[in-house]
Amino acid sequence: MENKKRPEDMARIATAEAAQAFINQQIAEVRETVGSKKVLLALSGGVDSSVVAALLIKAIGKQLVCVHVNHGLLRKGEPEQVVSVFRDQMDANLIYVDASDRFLKQLAGVSDPEQKRKIIGAEFIEVFREEAQKLDGIEFLAQGTIYPDILESEKGVKAHHNVGGLPEQLGFRLVEPLKFLYKDEVRVVGDALGLPKTMVYRQPFPGPGLGVRCLGAITKERLACVRESDAILREEFEKNGLAGKVWQYFTVVPDFKSVGVRDGKRTFAYPVIIRAVNTKDAMTATVEDIPFSLLQHLTERITSEVPGVNRVLYDLTPKPCGTIEWE
Ligand code: XMP
Repeated sequence: MENKKRPEDMARIATAEAAQAFINQQIAEVRETVGSKKVLLALSGGVDSSVVAALLIKAIGKQLVCVHVNHGLLRKGEPEQVVSVFRDQMDANLIYVDASDRFLKQLAGVSDPEQKRKIIGAEFIEVFREEAQKLDGIEFLAQGTIYPDILESEKGVKAHHNVGGLPEQLGFRLVEPLKFLYKDEVRVVGDALGLPKTMVYRQPFPGPGLGVRCLGAITKERLACVRESDAILREEFEKNGLAGKVWQYFTVVPDFKSVGVRDGKRTFAYPVIIRAVNTKDAMTATVEDIPFSLLQHLTERITSEVPGVNRVLYDLTPKPCGTIEWE
């Protein structure tokens, strides 16, 4: 029976030394379990899967095969960062799959938020399964499961599955080196492994990505509005010292247009909504008090730099009664 309880005597990992001791112990355990076999990992570029990848690269090098599926709903620069950090800097065995067109085709005309989530999840599993089947000699599947995932699954809050059902379908055994760590410990370990701060301390990002921020039926045009406005927001929050203070911040683009005017001419274009919230556990959230001058500057930049946008709004709704995401 697999052990699902964090050992009672396990000290909290809060220092670089403690992280190094954890890394050394995991390297030894992983080598012992895996031997000379190959391990597959779905590497999204999120904190957990990135830390697992960096740890396993140290433990078993090229025996780890990372698959990065770009579903076309990632933020600006994300797929490039995954390739640059893992393939170029860490010399990982990384398969990059650009599946954007496949996802957009499946999502075309679908406006129901739950349906969109289902399609994105199912298509992700399908792409990953196809890649796994192309490979020979894989016996293990690594996952970035962390302790809150186990606790939440047990409580029935959410079913935890990174690549749902795949281990069983493909006969993989699981490798989950972070399964007893809390998020703050994962970050300390990520730091000790030399991952970039922008990866280790990045804000939460939903699995369905920008797909749930491009409201209603996704189009390439509005997806570009979300991606470009989000990049501007992130840049300005970093520049203005808000990136470390605000838990989650992003932009949303609805599927309606409004009338505006530019250079004396009528425009008919999309609005961009800015959301910036603080929370402890994502169950409730408060809206962040962003300086008005920054909101004005963001409005100026977004309306002049993002094609197809003529208005910017700031969402003042706490959770409840809004959720953090709009879909
Ligand atoms: P809500 O919108 O429910 O979001 O207030 C709470 C937190 O969960 C994230 N979120 C998701 N994360 N898959 C994920 O991995 C999802 O489908 C999903 N939906 C919401 C959201 O970004 C926020 O941090």
